[in-house]
Amino acid sequence: MRRKDHYYYRARREGYRSRAAYKLKQLDKKFGIFKGAKAVLDLCCAPGGWLQVAREGVGNEGVVVGVDINKISSINGVTFICGDIVKEETLNRVLSVCEEFDVVLSDCSPNVSGIWSVDHERQMFLARASLEIAKRVLKNGGTLVIKAFQGSEYASFLSEVKQHFGFVRTTKPEASRKTSAEMYIVAKNFRRL
Ligand SMILES: C[S@@+](CC[C@H](N)C(=O)[O-])C[C@H]1O[C@@H](n2cnc3c(N)ncnc32)[C@H](O)[C@@H]1O
Repeated sequence: MRRKDHYYYRARREGYRSRAAYKLKQLDKKFGIFKGAKAVLDLCCAPGGWLQVAREGVGNEGVVVGVDINKISSINGVTFICGDIVKEETLNRVLSVCEEFDVVLSDCSPNVSGIWSVDHERQMFLARASLEIAKRVLKNGGTLVIKAFQGSEYASFLSEVKQHFGFVRTTKPEASRKTSAEMYIVAKNFRRL
């Protein structure tokens, strides 16, 4: 089991469903993820820490849609879709709620096998699926925040992201464990090719 750290206890104290909430808060502080955003799609959202932060980010008038293969308990003002992000039918369900988003978030992690190359490949598969969805639903000028495990496919994935966005930065928020190979790619100014 993972060590319970400062962010774990802080999340419990402050009512966030995951310590991951602080990663998104830190990314928002640095990059203004939710500035002017009215609609946010959160891929791989369970248990819902990022959804809570997105809800705060867009305010009461905004639309927040979350997707995960695992169910979550409901969050006020959030539409949750239980589905696999890799399946086309899941995208269709998202589009039936909202056709265009200002921000797409993706914090996907596969079931880890413990074999690094396998886990990296599986995670990259989910990150690529998220990028494909973002390309379908993002407004021009929109923002994508996406987790990617560093490994052999990371550089080529980053180049793919760069083809579609005017501004791309990679970063590791303080709340991300030092021992974790995860990086966060923040891509702004989406351009439909
Ligand atoms: C690190 S957690 C996300 C934490 C979330 N950002 C939060 O703040 O609570 C990763 C999630 O990816 C989801 N996931 C993995 N593969 C998926 C898939 N194919 N479709 C949808 N969700 C998936 C898992 O069920 C898990 O809930």
